[in-house]
Amino acid sequence: MSDTNEKMISVQGAVFPLEKLLNMAKTAMQQAYVPYSNFPVGSALITKNGNVYSGCNVENASYGLTCCAERVAIFKAVTEGNRDIKALAVIGNTELPCSPCGACRQVMYEFNPDMEVYIANKDGDYVKTYAGELLPAQFDSRMLNQESE
Ligand code: THU
Repeated sequence: MSDTNEKMISVQGAVFPLEKLLNMAKTAMQQAYVPYSNFPVGSALITKNGNVYSGCNVENASYGLTCCAERVAIFKAVTEGNRDIKALAVIGNTELPCSPCGACRQVMYEFNPDMEVYIANKDGDYVKTYAGELLPAQFDSRMLNQESE
């Protein structure tokens, strides 16, 4: 695992400190609505043009309606017209880095297989990977375009 020591994320004509993205994710984690699991998660992403969005997990009494922090952040970006996601951070109040669930991996892959993904623990120690690495053999739009016999 690495710590943040001044690592920068390159976006259009600028750089953005990874530490800032992780702090945004941590701040978002404080807003998590988690009465059922008591497991807060925070996420923050930066788009290729330098816009940032954050998300927290939002649970529901009908458990399956819960939305993860990563998807909240991604859906906020997409709603604001920013689909080109360069990097996403996710953090849990955990000892181990909070690894994204399968659904979130599929959604990350949709918007950028090369998306940098920083998976962090409560101290901000992180593992860096990519959306495409997190989800091998993903379902993608090519599957939809096949003729059936
Ligand atoms: N959760 C996330 O927000 N992101 C993940 O990638 C894994 C799980 C949330 C969903 C639920 O609110 C809680 O963590 C426990 O599963």
